[in-house]
Amino acid sequence: MKSVHIATKSKQYPLYLGQNTLTKLEETVAAMKPAVSSVLIISDEAVASRYLDDVTNAIHSDLSVYSFVVPSGEKEKSFENYYKAQTRALEIGLDRHSLVIALGGGMIGDLAGFVAATFMRGIRFIQIPTTLLAHDSAVGGKVAVNHPLGKNMIGAFHQPEAVLYNISFLDSLPVYEWRSGFAEMLKHALIWDAELYAWLRNEVCTLEDLRGDKLIYALDQAIGVKAAVVSQDETEKGIRAYLNFGHTLGHAIEAELGYGTVTHGDAVAIGMLYAILLSERVYHKDLQYKSFVQTFRAYGFPKLPAGLSADRLIELMKKDKKANSGVIRMVLMKEIGEVEVVPVSDELIASTLEEFMDREWSL
Ligand SMILES: NC(=O)c1ccc[n+]([C@@H]2O[C@H](COP(=O)([O-])OP(=O)(O)OC[C@H]3O[C@@H](n4cnc5c(N)ncnc54)[C@H](O)[C@@H]3O)[C@@H](O)[C@H]2O)c1
Ligand SMILES: [Zn+2]
Repeated sequence: MKSVHIATKSKQYPLYLGQNTLTKLEETVAAMKPAVSSVLIISDEAVASRYLDDVTNAIHSDLSVYSFVVPSGEKEKSFENYYKAQTRALEIGLDRHSLVIALGGGMIGDLAGFVAATFMRGIRFIQIPTTLLAHDSAVGGKVAVNHPLGKNMIGAFHQPEAVLYNISFLDSLPVYEWRSGFAEMLKHALIWDAELYAWLRNEVCTLEDLRGDKLIYALDQAIGVKAAVVSQDETEKGIRAYLNFGHTLGHAIEAELGYGTVTHGDAVAIGMLYAILLSERVYHKDLQYKSFVQTFRAYGFPKLPAGLSADRLIELMKKDKKANSGVIRMVLMKEIGEVEVVPVSDELIASTLEEFMDREWSL
């Protein structure tokens, strides 16, 4: 089992990565000070039906362990479920020394984390990520729920006490969820680590290659990027914004199609291709946009869904948190492994988006 040390300004915590990291749960809970008074596991139906018992049994103590299970899917990362979870926490008598366990993918990590961040002004929580994508979301302490007018618009920064990444849980993940998580892995490589990008291209020809030792290696590297970024900038005053590479258009696509219609990673993959094309236009430089398109298609990432309106997407991009007073700030790639945040004029955003749409639909 690997142990990665995550150090942010507000908190340091371990991330355990391996085939069976649940063995760490008991000692992690037992070591917490002040002592944990009770536990609420928050999960979704697809995950709870498979793994809730395993996690409950792994706590091995006489603590009261409760659960709160929501249906699966991004649209459940809602204010309604946030409120229901708070009601459950109050009904079962959680107190300031209770512990929340987020058992699930990024949807649950964000929802449960936000419940923990705000219940009685903040209680402790542990992340037990169950998707590939959650190598990103479980680290760094950003927690949130969606609002119909914008993704992740209501949230907080709240770091977990520990992250237990038990990769045998990934065995039941559908292939499109592997791909969704792989998009964030490619993102980590493209913004920070050219060597990792080259390794992924050479060693991971199809997503089925991402198993066993290769999976652990890739996760370790990608988590390392996320950890390095958040350790330098916990609250997104600067370089943490790099993690939004591909997300400005990605979030707009998700919002426009309706949360859950397209996976987060597929939307981000499309957004990264657009960001690369825009980078070529801003820097007047050939970044091999076409070869990125080929690589992404080979992994199975979809084209931009047909029939979307450029104007509508731009409107949504402007609502994005990265837009300051209406100017869209894009994370652009200077070269593989190096990005920066650049305000881009509406004209260039629009003309490149139109070019991107033409190329997506004609390639
Ligand atoms: N907080 C952050 O820093 C951060 C970073 C990236 C993404 N996110 C958020 O993460 C979310 C996306 O995360 P996600 O892709 O993990 O989505 P998710 O949690 O909705 O999981 C995807 C689907 O897989 C199912 N599932 C989960 N684990 C499974 C397993 N082991 N076996 C079978 N099925 C399983 C879920 O039930 C769900 O249907 C988005 O809300 C995004 O905004 C947050
Ligand atoms: Zn993301």
